[in-house]
Amino acid sequence: MAYDVVVIGTGPGGYVCAIKAAQLGLKTAVIEKWATHGGTCVNVGCIPSKALLHASEAFMEAGHSFAELGVDVGTPKLNLKKMLEHKNRTVEQNTKGLDFLMKKNKIDVFRGTGKVLGQGKVGVAGEDGKVQEIETKNIVIATGSEVAGIPGVDVKFDEKVIISSTGALELAKVPDSMIVVGGGVIGLELGSVWARLGAKVTVVEYLDTILGGMDGEVAKQFQRLLAKQGFEFRLGAKVTDVSKAKKGAKVTFEPAKGGDAETLEADVVLVATGRKPYTEGLGLQEAGIEVDDRGRVKTDHHLRTNISGIYAIGDVIAGPMLAHKAEEEGVAVAEIIAGQAGHVNYNVIPSVVYTSPEVASIGKTEEELKKAGVEYAVGKFPFTANGRARAMLHTDGFVKILADRKTDRVLGVHIVGFGAGEMIHEAAVLMEFGGSSEDLARTCHAHPTMSEAVKEAALGAFAKPIHI
Ligand code: FAD
Ligand code: NAI
Repeated sequence: MAYDVVVIGTGPGGYVCAIKAAQLGLKTAVIEKWATHGGTCVNVGCIPSKALLHASEAFMEAGHSFAELGVDVGTPKLNLKKMLEHKNRTVEQNTKGLDFLMKKNKIDVFRGTGKVLGQGKVGVAGEDGKVQEIETKNIVIATGSEVAGIPGVDVKFDEKVIISSTGALELAKVPDSMIVVGGGVIGLELGSVWARLGAKVTVVEYLDTILGGMDGEVAKQFQRLLAKQGFEFRLGAKVTDVSKAKKGAKVTFEPAKGGDAETLEADVVLVATGRKPYTEGLGLQEAGIEVDDRGRVKTDHHLRTNISGIYAIGDVIAGPMLAHKAEEEGVAVAEIIAGQAGHVNYNVIPSVVYTSPEVASIGKTEEELKKAGVEYAVGKFPFTANGRARAMLHTDGFVKILADRKTDRVLGVHIVGFGAGEMIHEAAVLMEFGGSSEDLARTCHAHPTMSEAVKEAALGAFAKPIHI
Protein backbone atom coordinates (compact mmCIF):
# COMPACT_ATOMS: atom_id res chain seq x y z
CA MET A 1 0.00 0.00 0.00
CA ALA A 2 1.36 3.45 -0.83
CA TYR A 3 1.49 6.08 1.89
CA ASP A 4 1.12 9.82 1.52
CA VAL A 5 3.92 10.38 4.05
CA VAL A 6 6.58 8.21 5.65
CA VAL A 7 8.56 9.88 8.43
CA ILE A 8 11.97 8.45 9.31
CA GLY A 9 12.66 8.97 13.04
CA THR A 10 10.15 9.65 15.80
CA GLY A 11 11.85 12.33 17.87
CA PRO A 12 9.89 15.53 18.54
CA GLY A 13 10.29 16.53 14.89
CA GLY A 14 9.18 13.21 13.41
CA TYR A 15 6.36 12.21 15.72
CA VAL A 16 4.79 15.67 15.66
CA CYS A 17 5.03 15.72 11.86
CA ALA A 18 3.34 12.30 11.66
CA ILE A 19 0.50 13.29 14.00
CA LYS A 20 -0.14 16.55 12.14
CA ALA A 21 -0.05 14.73 8.77
CA ALA A 22 -2.56 12.16 10.04
CA GLN A 23 -4.77 14.94 11.42
CA LEU A 24 -4.77 16.51 7.96
CA GLY A 25 -6.07 13.27 6.46
CA LEU A 26 -2.80 11.97 5.01
CA LYS A 27 -2.06 8.24 5.13
CA THR A 28 0.98 8.24 7.38
CA ALA A 29 3.65 5.83 8.62
CA VAL A 30 6.76 6.25 10.77
CA ILE A 31 9.99 4.28 10.93
CA GLU A 32 11.88 4.18 14.24
CA LYS A 33 14.97 2.18 15.06
CA TRP A 34 14.87 2.62 18.82
CA ALA A 35 12.51 0.52 20.93
CA THR A 36 10.59 3.61 22.01
CA HIS A 37 9.35 6.78 20.30
CA GLY A 38 10.40 10.27 21.35
CA GLY A 39 13.98 10.34 20.06
CA THR A 40 16.79 12.06 21.90
CA CYS A 41 14.41 14.49 23.60
CA VAL A 42 12.16 12.02 25.36
CA ASN A 43 14.61 9.14 25.91
CA VAL A 44 17.97 10.74 26.70
CA GLY A 45 17.52 14.51 26.44
CA CYS A 46 14.96 17.12 27.45
CA ILE A 47 12.68 14.93 29.53
CA PRO A 48 15.08 12.86 31.67
CA SER A 49 17.35 15.86 32.21
CA LYS A 50 14.42 17.97 33.41
CA ALA A 51 13.29 15.19 35.76
CA LEU A 52 16.76 15.18 37.36
CA LEU A 53 17.00 18.97 37.33
CA HIS A 54 13.68 19.26 39.16
CA ALA A 55 14.53 16.56 41.70
CA SER A 56 18.03 17.88 42.40
CA GLU A 57 16.67 21.42 42.75
CA ALA A 58 14.17 20.18 45.34
CA PHE A 59 17.08 18.51 47.18
CA MET A 60 19.09 21.73 47.08
CA GLU A 61 16.16 23.86 48.28
CA ALA A 62 15.42 21.46 51.12
CA GLY A 63 19.02 21.87 52.26
CA HIS A 64 19.33 25.61 51.75
CA SER A 65 16.22 27.74 51.65
CA PHE A 66 13.63 25.68 53.57
CA ALA A 67 15.07 26.68 56.95
CA GLU A 68 14.93 30.38 56.01
CA LEU A 69 11.24 29.92 55.18
CA GLY A 70 10.68 28.40 58.60
CA VAL A 71 10.50 24.81 57.42
CA ASP A 72 12.94 22.74 59.46
CA VAL A 73 13.57 19.38 57.83
CA GLY A 74 17.07 18.79 59.16
CA THR A 75 19.73 17.78 56.69
CA PRO A 76 18.04 16.22 53.66
CA LYS A 77 19.25 12.77 52.69
CA LEU A 78 19.77 11.85 49.07
CA ASN A 79 18.16 8.71 47.70
CA LEU A 80 19.81 8.68 44.28
CA LYS A 81 18.27 5.35 43.30
CA LYS A 82 14.81 6.77 43.81
CA MET A 83 15.69 9.98 41.98
CA LEU A 84 16.83 7.95 38.97
CA GLU A 85 13.64 5.88 39.20
CA HIS A 86 11.62 9.09 39.05
CA LYS A 87 13.52 10.04 35.91
CA ASN A 88 12.98 6.62 34.31
CA ARG A 89 9.30 6.65 35.19
CA THR A 90 8.90 10.10 33.64
CA VAL A 91 10.52 8.88 30.41
CA GLU A 92 8.32 5.79 30.35
CA GLN A 93 5.13 7.82 30.85
CA ASN A 94 6.10 9.96 27.87
CA THR A 95 7.07 7.09 25.55
CA LYS A 96 3.87 5.23 26.43
CA GLY A 97 1.93 8.41 25.69
CA LEU A 98 3.51 8.48 22.24
CA ASP A 99 2.53 4.84 21.56
CA PHE A 100 -1.02 5.88 22.38
CA LEU A 101 -0.87 8.94 20.10
CA MET A 102 0.41 6.80 17.19
CA LYS A 103 -2.54 4.43 17.61
CA LYS A 104 -5.07 7.18 18.17
CA ASN A 105 -4.03 8.87 14.93
CA LYS A 106 -3.89 5.56 13.02
CA ILE A 107 -0.22 5.99 12.15
CA ASP A 108 1.50 2.77 11.02
CA VAL A 109 4.71 2.10 12.91
CA PHE A 110 7.63 0.25 11.30
CA ARG A 111 10.42 -0.81 13.66
CA GLY A 112 13.90 -0.80 12.15
CA THR A 113 16.41 1.41 10.38
CA GLY A 114 14.96 3.51 7.61
CA LYS A 115 16.81 4.12 4.37
CA VAL A 116 15.87 6.39 1.50
CA LEU A 117 15.84 4.19 -1.60
CA GLY A 118 14.97 7.04 -3.93
CA GLN A 119 12.04 9.26 -4.73
CA GLY A 120 8.88 7.60 -3.41
CA LYS A 121 10.59 4.60 -1.87
CA VAL A 122 12.01 3.83 1.57
CA GLY A 123 13.42 0.65 3.05
CA VAL A 124 13.18 -0.58 6.63
CA ALA A 125 15.96 -2.89 7.79
CA GLY A 126 14.92 -5.07 10.71
CA GLU A 127 17.28 -6.68 13.22
CA ASP A 128 17.52 -9.74 10.98
CA GLY A 129 18.92 -7.50 8.23
CA LYS A 130 15.92 -8.08 5.96
CA VAL A 131 14.78 -4.95 4.16
CA GLN A 132 11.13 -4.20 3.69
CA GLU A 133 10.29 -1.70 0.96
CA ILE A 134 7.57 0.89 1.41
CA GLU A 135 6.11 3.13 -1.25
CA THR A 136 5.19 6.65 -0.34
CA LYS A 137 4.45 9.93 -2.08
CA ASN A 138 6.53 11.91 0.43
CA ILE A 139 9.44 11.15 2.74
CA VAL A 140 10.36 13.23 5.79
CA ILE A 141 13.86 12.76 7.21
CA ALA A 142 13.78 13.42 10.97
CA THR A 143 16.75 11.39 12.17
CA GLY A 144 18.05 13.95 14.65
CA SER A 145 21.55 14.24 16.05
CA GLU A 146 24.19 12.46 18.12
CA VAL A 147 27.03 13.44 20.46
CA ALA A 148 29.72 15.25 18.48
CA GLY A 149 32.70 14.76 20.81
CA ILE A 150 35.61 17.19 20.61
CA PRO A 151 36.92 17.95 17.13
CA GLY A 152 40.45 16.58 16.78
CA VAL A 153 40.37 14.77 20.14
CA ASP A 154 39.82 11.03 20.42
CA VAL A 155 37.41 10.84 23.37
CA LYS A 156 36.79 7.27 24.52
CA PHE A 157 33.38 7.43 26.17
CA ASP A 158 32.78 4.58 28.61
CA GLU A 159 29.70 6.37 30.04
CA LYS A 160 30.99 5.75 33.57
CA VAL A 161 34.12 7.84 33.98
CA ILE A 162 34.25 9.64 30.63
CA ILE A 163 30.66 10.38 29.93
CA SER A 164 28.39 12.10 27.43
CA SER A 165 25.00 13.57 28.36
CA THR A 166 23.54 10.06 28.22
CA GLY A 167 25.93 8.77 30.91
CA ALA A 168 25.30 11.90 32.97
CA LEU A 169 21.65 10.84 33.28
CA GLU A 170 22.64 7.49 34.75
CA LEU A 171 25.49 7.88 37.26
CA ALA A 172 24.92 5.33 40.02
CA LYS A 173 26.86 7.39 42.56
CA VAL A 174 27.47 11.10 43.08
CA PRO A 175 31.09 11.75 42.08
CA ASP A 176 33.20 13.86 44.47
CA SER A 177 34.48 15.84 41.51
CA MET A 178 33.39 16.36 37.93
CA ILE A 179 35.00 18.22 35.05
CA VAL A 180 32.59 19.44 32.43
CA VAL A 181 34.14 20.06 29.04
CA GLY A 182 32.00 22.69 27.32
CA GLY A 183 30.13 25.49 29.08
CA GLY A 184 27.08 25.20 26.83
CA VAL A 185 23.55 24.15 27.67
CA ILE A 186 24.18 20.48 28.38
CA GLY A 187 27.29 21.12 30.47
CA LEU A 188 25.56 23.69 32.67
CA GLU A 189 22.28 21.78 33.06
CA LEU A 190 23.76 18.37 33.82
CA GLY A 191 26.69 19.94 35.70
CA SER A 192 24.04 21.63 37.88
CA VAL A 193 22.35 18.31 38.64
CA TRP A 194 25.55 16.76 40.01
CA ALA A 195 26.76 19.96 41.69
CA ARG A 196 23.47 20.18 43.62
CA LEU A 197 23.85 16.57 44.69
CA GLY A 198 27.35 17.24 46.03
CA ALA A 199 29.93 17.04 43.24
CA LYS A 200 32.61 19.73 42.92
CA VAL A 201 32.10 20.84 39.31
CA THR A 202 34.71 22.57 37.16
CA VAL A 203 33.71 23.78 33.70
CA VAL A 204 36.42 24.04 31.06
CA GLU A 205 35.20 26.18 28.15
CA TYR A 206 36.92 27.25 24.95
CA LEU A 207 35.22 30.64 24.66
CA ASP A 208 35.70 33.57 27.06
CA THR A 209 32.10 33.18 28.14
CA ILE A 210 29.71 30.43 29.10
CA LEU A 211 26.54 30.01 26.97
CA GLY A 212 28.22 31.50 23.89
CA GLY A 213 25.63 33.14 21.65
CA MET A 214 23.44 34.25 24.57
CA ASP A 215 23.25 37.94 25.51
CA GLY A 216 26.64 38.79 27.05
CA GLU A 217 25.25 40.57 30.12
CA VAL A 218 22.96 37.64 30.85
CA ALA A 219 25.76 35.10 30.48
CA LYS A 220 28.02 37.09 32.84
CA GLN A 221 25.38 37.43 35.54
CA PHE A 222 24.48 33.76 35.20
CA GLN A 223 28.12 32.72 35.56
CA ARG A 224 28.33 34.72 38.80
CA LEU A 225 25.25 32.95 40.13
CA LEU A 226 26.65 29.53 39.23
CA ALA A 227 29.96 30.44 40.89
CA LYS A 228 27.97 31.20 44.09
CA GLN A 229 26.62 27.65 43.83
CA GLY A 230 30.19 26.31 43.83
CA PHE A 231 30.92 26.00 40.11
CA GLU A 232 34.47 26.73 39.04
CA PHE A 233 35.18 28.03 35.57
CA ARG A 234 38.22 27.81 33.34
CA LEU A 235 37.31 29.98 30.36
CA GLY A 236 39.28 30.59 27.18
CA ALA A 237 40.61 27.06 27.57
CA LYS A 238 40.84 24.66 24.67
CA VAL A 239 40.65 21.01 25.67
CA THR A 240 43.15 18.92 23.76
CA ASP A 241 42.91 15.59 25.56
CA VAL A 242 40.52 13.61 27.70
CA SER A 243 41.70 10.27 29.01
CA LYS A 244 41.43 7.89 31.94
CA ALA A 245 43.62 8.49 34.98
CA LYS A 246 44.53 6.19 37.90
CA LYS A 247 41.42 7.36 39.69
CA GLY A 248 38.83 8.83 37.37
CA ALA A 249 39.90 10.79 34.32
CA LYS A 250 42.02 13.74 33.30
CA VAL A 251 41.52 16.68 31.00
CA THR A 252 44.33 18.58 29.34
CA PHE A 253 43.72 22.07 28.04
CA GLU A 254 45.67 25.07 26.84
CA PRO A 255 44.78 28.76 26.62
CA ALA A 256 42.68 29.23 23.46
CA LYS A 257 44.97 32.14 22.54
CA GLY A 258 48.05 29.92 22.93
CA GLY A 259 50.25 29.11 25.93
CA ASP A 260 51.16 26.33 28.31
CA ALA A 261 48.97 23.27 28.71
CA GLU A 262 47.48 22.29 32.07
CA THR A 263 45.91 19.06 33.28
CA LEU A 264 43.07 18.59 35.76
CA GLU A 265 41.78 15.34 37.21
CA ALA A 266 38.34 14.39 38.47
CA ASP A 267 36.27 11.32 39.30
CA VAL A 268 34.15 11.88 36.21
CA VAL A 269 34.52 13.94 33.03
CA LEU A 270 31.40 15.01 31.18
CA VAL A 271 32.13 15.95 27.57
CA ALA A 272 29.42 18.31 26.32
CA THR A 273 30.89 20.00 23.28
CA GLY A 274 27.92 19.92 20.95
CA ARG A 275 25.96 17.51 18.79
CA LYS A 276 26.11 16.63 15.11
CA PRO A 277 23.46 15.54 12.60
CA TYR A 278 22.74 11.81 12.53
CA THR A 279 22.45 10.37 9.02
CA GLU A 280 24.22 7.01 9.31
CA GLY A 281 22.70 4.29 7.15
CA LEU A 282 20.14 6.67 5.67
CA GLY A 283 21.47 6.28 2.15
CA LEU A 284 21.69 10.02 1.50
CA GLN A 285 24.57 9.75 -0.92
CA GLU A 286 23.04 6.95 -3.00
CA ALA A 287 19.77 8.87 -3.13
CA GLY A 288 21.61 12.04 -4.22
CA ILE A 289 20.41 14.10 -1.25
CA GLU A 290 22.68 17.08 -0.63
CA VAL A 291 24.24 17.84 2.74
CA ASP A 292 26.16 20.96 3.83
CA ASP A 293 29.76 21.21 5.06
CA ARG A 294 28.65 20.16 8.56
CA GLY A 295 26.82 17.06 7.34
CA ARG A 296 23.36 18.59 7.79
CA VAL A 297 20.71 17.77 5.20
CA LYS A 298 20.26 20.86 3.01
CA THR A 299 16.75 22.25 2.82
CA ASP A 300 15.07 25.30 1.31
CA HIS A 301 12.54 27.63 3.01
CA HIS A 302 9.87 24.98 2.61
CA LEU A 303 12.05 22.30 4.26
CA ARG A 304 12.44 20.52 0.90
CA THR A 305 15.67 18.74 0.07
CA ASN A 306 17.04 18.90 -3.45
CA ILE A 307 14.98 15.79 -4.35
CA SER A 308 11.30 16.37 -4.98
CA GLY A 309 9.01 14.74 -2.40
CA ILE A 310 11.78 14.42 0.20
CA TYR A 311 11.80 16.83 3.16
CA ALA A 312 13.98 17.12 6.29
CA ILE A 313 13.36 18.65 9.73
CA GLY A 314 14.83 19.01 13.22
CA ASP A 315 18.40 18.50 14.41
CA VAL A 316 19.42 16.88 11.12
CA ILE A 317 19.08 20.23 9.29
CA ALA A 318 20.48 23.71 10.02
CA GLY A 319 19.25 25.87 12.91
CA PRO A 320 19.15 25.58 16.67
CA MET A 321 19.08 22.01 17.96
CA LEU A 322 15.92 22.41 19.99
CA ALA A 323 12.94 20.11 20.37
CA HIS A 324 10.37 22.87 19.84
CA LYS A 325 12.12 24.04 16.67
CA ALA A 326 11.94 20.45 15.37
CA GLU A 327 8.23 20.30 16.30
CA GLU A 328 7.42 23.55 14.49
CA GLU A 329 9.17 22.23 11.40
CA GLY A 330 7.27 18.94 11.68
CA VAL A 331 3.95 20.77 11.66
CA ALA A 332 5.04 23.03 8.79
CA VAL A 333 6.11 20.09 6.58
CA ALA A 334 2.86 18.21 7.20
CA GLU A 335 0.92 21.33 6.22
CA ILE A 336 3.05 21.90 3.13
CA ILE A 337 2.53 18.28 2.02
CA ALA A 338 -1.22 18.70 2.59
CA GLY A 339 -1.17 21.74 0.32
CA GLN A 340 -1.35 24.33 3.09
CA ALA A 341 0.97 27.27 3.82
CA GLY A 342 3.24 25.72 6.48
CA HIS A 343 5.77 28.18 7.88
CA VAL A 344 8.26 28.50 10.75
CA ASN A 345 9.13 31.93 12.18
CA TYR A 346 12.80 31.40 13.03
CA ASN A 347 13.01 34.90 14.57
CA VAL A 348 10.74 33.87 17.40
CA ILE A 349 12.14 30.64 18.83
CA PRO A 350 12.64 30.75 22.58
CA SER A 351 15.66 29.18 24.15
CA VAL A 352 15.69 28.08 27.80
CA VAL A 353 18.44 26.79 30.07
CA TYR A 354 16.72 24.88 32.88
CA THR A 355 19.21 25.65 35.61
CA SER A 356 18.66 27.46 38.88
CA PRO A 357 17.87 30.19 38.16
CA GLU A 358 16.67 29.56 34.63
CA VAL A 359 17.95 31.52 31.66
CA ALA A 360 15.54 32.27 28.84
CA SER A 361 16.02 34.22 25.70
CA ILE A 362 14.21 35.10 22.49
CA GLY A 363 15.10 37.25 19.50
CA LYS A 364 18.24 39.33 19.17
CA THR A 365 20.96 39.81 21.76
CA GLU A 366 22.47 43.24 22.43
CA GLU A 367 25.67 42.10 20.71
CA GLU A 368 23.74 41.10 17.58
CA LEU A 369 21.93 44.44 17.42
CA LYS A 370 25.19 46.36 17.85
CA LYS A 371 26.81 44.33 15.09
CA ALA A 372 23.86 44.92 12.75
CA GLY A 373 23.98 48.68 13.50
CA VAL A 374 20.39 48.73 14.79
CA GLU A 375 19.55 51.58 17.16
CA TYR A 376 17.89 50.12 20.21
CA ALA A 377 16.55 51.02 23.64
CA VAL A 378 17.18 48.83 26.69
CA GLY A 379 14.73 48.25 29.53
CA LYS A 380 15.92 46.31 32.57
CA PHE A 381 14.38 45.25 35.83
CA PRO A 382 15.97 43.20 38.64
CA PHE A 383 14.03 40.56 40.58
CA THR A 384 15.38 42.07 43.83
CA ALA A 385 12.75 44.79 43.28
CA ASN A 386 9.91 42.32 42.68
CA GLY A 387 7.65 41.55 45.65
CA ARG A 388 6.80 38.00 44.66
CA ALA A 389 10.46 37.16 44.10
CA ARG A 390 11.25 38.36 47.63
CA ALA A 391 8.38 36.33 49.06
CA MET A 392 9.77 33.19 47.40
CA LEU A 393 13.48 33.91 48.07
CA HIS A 394 14.05 33.99 44.31
CA THR A 395 15.54 37.46 43.87
CA ASP A 396 18.49 36.43 41.67
CA GLY A 397 18.53 37.76 38.12
CA PHE A 398 16.79 40.33 35.93
CA VAL A 399 14.71 40.90 32.81
CA LYS A 400 16.21 42.75 29.85
CA ILE A 401 14.18 43.98 26.92
CA LEU A 402 15.64 45.32 23.70
CA ALA A 403 13.37 47.43 21.50
CA ASP A 404 13.92 49.29 18.25
CA ARG A 405 14.65 52.91 19.17
CA LYS A 406 12.56 54.33 16.33
CA THR A 407 9.57 51.97 16.16
CA ASP A 408 9.64 50.56 19.75
CA ARG A 409 9.13 47.06 18.29
CA VAL A 410 10.53 44.46 20.69
CA LEU A 411 13.56 42.78 19.13
CA GLY A 412 14.85 40.64 21.98
CA VAL A 413 13.98 39.58 25.52
CA HIS A 414 16.45 37.97 27.91
CA ILE A 415 15.66 36.75 31.40
CA VAL A 416 17.77 35.23 34.17
CA GLY A 417 15.55 34.24 37.05
CA PHE A 418 13.24 31.75 38.67
CA GLY A 419 10.58 30.70 36.16
CA ALA A 420 12.30 32.48 33.24
CA GLY A 421 11.40 29.54 30.98
CA GLU A 422 7.70 30.18 31.53
CA MET A 423 7.86 33.99 31.49
CA ILE A 424 9.59 34.11 28.11
CA HIS A 425 6.40 33.07 26.34
CA GLU A 426 4.63 36.36 26.83
CA ALA A 427 7.53 37.88 24.91
CA ALA A 428 7.16 35.16 22.25
CA VAL A 429 3.49 35.96 21.69
CA LEU A 430 4.21 39.69 21.67
CA MET A 431 7.01 39.30 19.13
CA GLU A 432 4.96 36.94 16.93
CA PHE A 433 2.46 39.80 16.62
CA GLY A 434 5.21 42.40 16.09
CA GLY A 435 4.37 44.12 19.38
CA SER A 436 6.16 47.05 21.01
CA SER A 437 7.57 47.51 24.50
CA GLU A 438 4.68 49.91 25.11
CA ASP A 439 2.17 47.15 24.18
CA LEU A 440 3.81 44.91 26.75
CA ALA A 441 4.03 47.59 29.44
CA ARG A 442 0.41 48.63 29.00
CA THR A 443 -0.81 45.03 29.34
CA CYS A 444 -2.17 44.52 32.87
CA HIS A 445 -0.07 41.90 34.71
CA ALA A 446 -1.38 40.08 37.77
CA HIS A 447 0.13 41.11 41.11
CA PRO A 448 2.19 39.75 42.73
CA THR A 449 3.94 37.75 39.99
CA MET A 450 7.48 37.35 38.72
CA SER A 451 6.04 38.40 35.33
CA GLU A 452 5.57 41.92 36.63
CA ALA A 453 9.33 42.26 36.18
CA VAL A 454 8.77 41.71 32.44
CA LYS A 455 6.20 44.50 32.39
CA GLU A 456 8.55 46.78 34.36
CA ALA A 457 11.46 46.06 32.00
CA ALA A 458 9.17 46.91 29.07
CA LEU A 459 8.28 50.19 30.82
CA GLY A 460 11.99 50.80 31.14
CA ALA A 461 12.46 50.46 27.38
CA PHE A 462 9.97 53.18 26.38
CA ALA A 463 9.40 55.19 29.59
CA LYS A 464 10.48 54.45 33.19
CA PRO A 465 9.84 51.49 35.48
CA ILE A 466 7.60 52.26 38.48
CA HIS A 467 9.01 50.07 41.23
CA ILE A 468 12.67 51.02 41.16
P1 FAD B 1 15.82 13.25 17.70
O1 FAD B 1 15.08 13.59 18.93
O2 FAD B 1 17.27 13.02 17.81
O3 FAD B 1 15.12 11.94 17.12
C1 FAD B 1 15.59 11.27 16.01
C2 FAD B 1 14.99 9.88 15.99
O4 FAD B 1 15.30 9.26 14.75
C3 FAD B 1 15.54 8.94 17.06
O5 FAD B 1 14.48 8.31 17.71
C4 FAD B 1 16.38 7.93 16.28
O6 FAD B 1 16.39 6.64 16.85
C5 FAD B 1 15.65 7.93 14.96
N1 FAD B 1 16.46 7.51 13.81
C6 FAD B 1 17.65 8.00 13.41
N2 FAD B 1 18.05 7.43 12.26
C7 FAD B 1 17.07 6.54 11.92
C8 FAD B 1 16.88 5.65 10.84
N3 FAD B 1 17.75 5.57 9.82
N4 FAD B 1 15.76 4.88 10.83
C9 FAD B 1 14.84 4.94 11.83
N5 FAD B 1 14.97 5.79 12.87
C10 FAD B 1 16.06 6.58 12.91
N6 FAD B 1 15.96 20.60 23.44
C11 FAD B 1 15.04 21.44 23.95
O7 FAD B 1 14.35 22.11 23.19
N7 FAD B 1 14.86 21.55 25.31
C12 FAD B 1 15.59 20.85 26.18
O8 FAD B 1 15.39 20.97 27.39
C13 FAD B 1 16.57 19.95 25.67
N8 FAD B 1 17.33 19.22 26.52
C14 FAD B 1 18.25 18.35 26.01
C15 FAD B 1 19.03 17.63 26.91
C16 FAD B 1 19.98 16.75 26.43
C17 FAD B 1 20.80 15.97 27.42
C18 FAD B 1 20.13 16.57 25.02
C19 FAD B 1 21.12 15.59 24.50
C20 FAD B 1 19.37 17.30 24.13
C21 FAD B 1 18.42 18.20 24.62
N9 FAD B 1 17.64 18.98 23.77
C22 FAD B 1 16.72 19.85 24.27
C23 FAD B 1 17.76 18.87 22.31
C24 FAD B 1 16.63 18.01 21.75
O9 FAD B 1 16.69 16.74 22.35
C25 FAD B 1 16.74 17.87 20.25
O10 FAD B 1 16.79 19.17 19.67
C26 FAD B 1 15.54 17.14 19.67
O11 FAD B 1 15.43 15.85 20.23
C27 FAD B 1 15.64 17.02 18.16
O12 FAD B 1 14.53 16.35 17.67
P2 FAD B 1 14.59 15.52 16.31
O13 FAD B 1 13.21 14.98 16.12
O14 FAD B 1 15.16 16.33 15.24
O15 FAD B 1 15.62 14.33 16.55
P1 NAI C 1 26.70 23.69 22.98
O1 NAI C 1 27.00 24.01 21.57
O2 NAI C 1 25.58 24.38 23.66
O3 NAI C 1 27.99 23.92 23.88
C1 NAI C 1 29.22 23.31 23.61
C2 NAI C 1 30.32 24.15 24.22
O4 NAI C 1 31.53 23.42 24.14
C3 NAI C 1 30.54 25.48 23.50
O5 NAI C 1 30.45 26.53 24.42
C4 NAI C 1 31.94 25.32 22.89
O6 NAI C 1 32.64 26.55 22.85
C5 NAI C 1 32.58 24.32 23.86
N1 NAI C 1 33.73 23.61 23.27
C6 NAI C 1 33.83 23.04 22.04
N2 NAI C 1 35.05 22.49 21.86
C7 NAI C 1 35.75 22.71 23.00
C8 NAI C 1 37.07 22.40 23.43
N3 NAI C 1 37.94 21.73 22.67
N4 NAI C 1 37.45 22.78 24.67
C9 NAI C 1 36.60 23.46 25.48
N5 NAI C 1 35.35 23.78 25.13
C10 NAI C 1 34.92 23.42 23.91
O7 NAI C 1 26.48 22.09 22.99
P2 NAI C 1 25.91 21.13 24.10
O8 NAI C 1 25.88 21.79 25.42
O9 NAI C 1 26.65 19.86 23.94
O10 NAI C 1 24.42 20.93 23.61
C11 NAI C 1 24.11 20.37 22.33
C12 NAI C 1 22.79 20.84 21.84
O11 NAI C 1 21.74 20.33 22.63
C13 NAI C 1 22.69 22.34 21.87
O12 NAI C 1 22.68 22.79 20.54
C14 NAI C 1 21.41 22.65 22.55
O13 NAI C 1 20.59 23.42 21.72
C15 NAI C 1 20.74 21.30 22.79
N6 NAI C 1 20.27 21.30 24.19
C16 NAI C 1 19.29 22.16 24.55
C17 NAI C 1 18.87 22.25 25.84
C18 NAI C 1 17.83 23.23 26.20
O14 NAI C 1 17.20 23.77 25.31
N7 NAI C 1 17.61 23.49 27.47
C19 NAI C 1 19.44 21.40 26.88
C20 NAI C 1 20.50 20.56 26.41
C21 NAI C 1 20.86 20.51 25.11
